[in-house]
Amino acid sequence: MGKDSKSIDTKKEPKDSLDFKAQILSRKSWITKMAATIGAVGLGAYGIYKSQEKKMKTSVIRQSVPLSFQWPTSDPFLFCVHHEDHYPKGNGKFGPKASLAGRDMGQDFAGKDGWRMYHGDDVPGFPGHPHRGFETVTVVQRGIVDHTDSLGAAGRYGDGDVQWMTAGAGVQHSEMFPLLHEDKENPMELFQIWLNLPKKDKFAPPHFTMLWNESIPVRTHEDSKGNRWKVKTVAGSLFGDKPLAPPPNSWASNPQNEVGIYILDFDAGAEFKIPGASPGLNRNVYYFRGQGLKINGTIVPGSHMFQVPSDEDLVLENGKEAGKILILEGRPIAEPVVQYGPFVMNTPEEIQTAFNDYRRTQFGGWPWESSDPVHVGKGRFAKHADGREELPS
Ligand SMILES: [Fe+2]
Repeated sequence: MGKDSKSIDTKKEPKDSLDFKAQILSRKSWITKMAATIGAVGLGAYGIYKSQEKKMKTSVIRQSVPLSFQWPTSDPFLFCVHHEDHYPKGNGKFGPKASLAGRDMGQDFAGKDGWRMYHGDDVPGFPGHPHRGFETVTVVQRGIVDHTDSLGAAGRYGDGDVQWMTAGAGVQHSEMFPLLHEDKENPMELFQIWLNLPKKDKFAPPHFTMLWNESIPVRTHEDSKGNRWKVKTVAGSLFGDKPLAPPPNSWASNPQNEVGIYILDFDAGAEFKIPGASPGLNRNVYYFRGQGLKINGTIVPGSHMFQVPSDEDLVLENGKEAGKILILEGRPIAEPVVQYGPFVMNTPEEIQTAFNDYRRTQFGGWPWESSDPVHVGKGRFAKHADGREELPS
């Protein structure tokens, strides 16, 4: 997933093997559009990040960056988008019961009327597109995602579930957001987070692990005044909860890498602490909902990311509004990162190889009738490439 701005034809041979500008075309293909989507934003985001960063007066905050559609990240993370769409009632065909006039169909990211079709024609979402060299962690707070992939795997997940996909050597997948409810609105909120793989694991076998909502640790705490704060632990053990296991080749699978993904919800007036971890990690705190929060005694602006030292406790005192925070932290992989579109490798030559391999193999092809399948009549489930079927537990 990501924000589109231009298209790339991954099938066209560039004049110069490293001149990827030669591949920028206007061809209408989901796969080719997605190839441009994420890389274009990923590369552009750095400039935004640098131009908007501010030094905070508090010594604990190293950098402060306003949040827009794509959020800035630090090694070992590559990408984070908070998708929030207030979809209307469904039209009986899993699309919106609303006119699509006035939208840039095919790349509808403007947020007209509070929702986006993204690359979907009839159903919102991201039809088939490839990835190689990293992992996607899709944390769905509200709404439903239908997954299909080039290995023949499928799934429907949402409403608190997490799909953790190791793209590794290469996979195509589709991520559609079917609007199931015809009698009420279909709000959608999810985070898509990209976690890099070290060089030794970039060609790990592609697959996904489901972290079902029923099993993800969520703990509600109370401060001394009875104000509540809640932590959802997707990865890490910073707050004392035991996380579900990530995929085996993930950077997060080694506890020494201290990869943490946490979502905190807190009441007005809540006081709580984010404990320090080891030194040398990258720790980013995304304060994406609320106003009036103090971090170590200083009021910080809402809708900002704060980069903070990983080994210092943060004392948070909330103001008069309930608030929400996402924390992404982990030990940096500290290897060269060369990202182009949906491929994240260590060298430009490896990116060229990824394009060549994708053109040649299509990462297994596409065994589905359309590029944007919806799992009609199904509840939440996962069917893996080896045929194993899984229900929420
Ligand atoms: Fe994707």
